Amino acid sequence: MQLIHADIVYSQDREHLAAHPDSYIAVEKGTVKGIWPVIPEEYKDVPLADYGEGTLIPAFSDLHVHAPQYLNRGIGSDLLLAEWLEKCTFPLEMKFADLEFAKLAYDVFIDDMIANGTLHACVYGTIHSEATSYLIEQMDRRGIKGFVGKVNMDRSAPAELTEDTERSVRETEAFLEKFGGNKNTRPLLTPRFAPSCTRELIGALGRLGQKYGVGMQTHLVESRWEAEQARLLFPQCSCDTEIYERAGLMDNGPVIGGHFIFPSAEDIRTMEKYGGYAVNCPDATVSVIAGIMPSGALLDRGIKIGLGSDVSAGHHIGVYTQAARAVQLSKLKSFYEPDGNRPITFPEAFWMAAKQSGELFGGVGSLEPGSVFDAIVIGGLSDAARKLSPEQTLERFCYIGTKENIKARYINGQAL
Ligand code: GUN
Ligand code: FE
Repeated sequence: MQLIHADIVYSQDREHLAAHPDSYIAVEKGTVKGIWPVIPEEYKDVPLADYGEGTLIPAFSDLHVHAPQYLNRGIGSDLLLAEWLEKCTFPLEMKFADLEFAKLAYDVFIDDMIANGTLHACVYGTIHSEATSYLIEQMDRRGIKGFVGKVNMDRSAPAELTEDTERSVRETEAFLEKFGGNKNTRPLLTPRFAPSCTRELIGALGRLGQKYGVGMQTHLVESRWEAEQARLLFPQCSCDTEIYERAGLMDNGPVIGGHFIFPSAEDIRTMEKYGGYAVNCPDATVSVIAGIMPSGALLDRGIKIGLGSDVSAGHHIGVYTQAARAVQLSKLKSFYEPDGNRPITFPEAFWMAAKQSGELFGGVGSLEPGSVFDAIVIGGLSDAARKLSPEQTLERFCYIGTKENIKARYINGQAL
């Protein structure tokens, strides 16, 4: 048992933050026991970590991020998707055939993700099994709850990144077998997106999902170009989600659809049916994709939405920055397309960044009693002339905070 003193903020529900200023939270065996304004009599002798005016919040979840692309953050962001993949992204991902290069890149990626308060994540590797194995091993070792995918792509890419279909399936199966029993970070099927996978490959991945009880992540209706390519390459399917649904890829575990910017009514029905997560990646969408998720409309429809940094289509590894950007973009969307759209509130954006997405990782993303205590302490955000409320501190952190404002990090109740 341990006690922590701070201002405490988490999502009460989708529309409201719960705030407990100047309070004590008790954590036992990695789980929140309760929150009180004074130390309860029976806990008087429990060890106390006192963060003074610091603000304790749940750790963030990044539902869509490309670990190899961390080396490209903030580079090439003036291009649009197809050209960006060809000129910026594929040439970098090719280098991950070299394990030593990959190790250098992945160590920094994991360090910076943790430094920025992301303690749960759905991560893309590359097609390379060795490098992706290193990534999942290190994330698991560091205690990151999440998923890593060996990327599958057997067409529409340079030769160095185009796998033989059978080999892609064989290596994916070996990846599932090797890491399926991991404690923290587990494998997830990762067909990159419809244009880069043949029907045979997607079908075989569907069979692997069923055999091993594993879900999938992909880029889903992310741009008009991608949706058009999908329709050309999969003429038997009327929309993007149908490609994965037909292959049985939505039946066996979490379904994580990056972007979901131009969904058809059928795409929305399918995601609703399978309880899939649509991942809002605001920086990425204003940079290389140039579209905005109809997040308010999707939330009102009951679609689950998480946030993604989508580095390096997005440039910042901190998911907190994406909570702010999600609010901004929802305003632009409803300004330019008022029909059916509405701005989202900050509490809704924070809900996506922690509580809603945290459900994927076993009860993280909140600080209400019973939650798994994965949390961070933020501070240094008030002005001398005026102290912010705990809710304002959280909001300001998402708009102008940096990793230097994160004073402590906890996984399962253990300080890192
Ligand atoms: N579509 C296919 N590959 C990618 C990628 O690496 N990033 C983004 N944002 N979209 C993609
Ligand atoms: Fe992406």
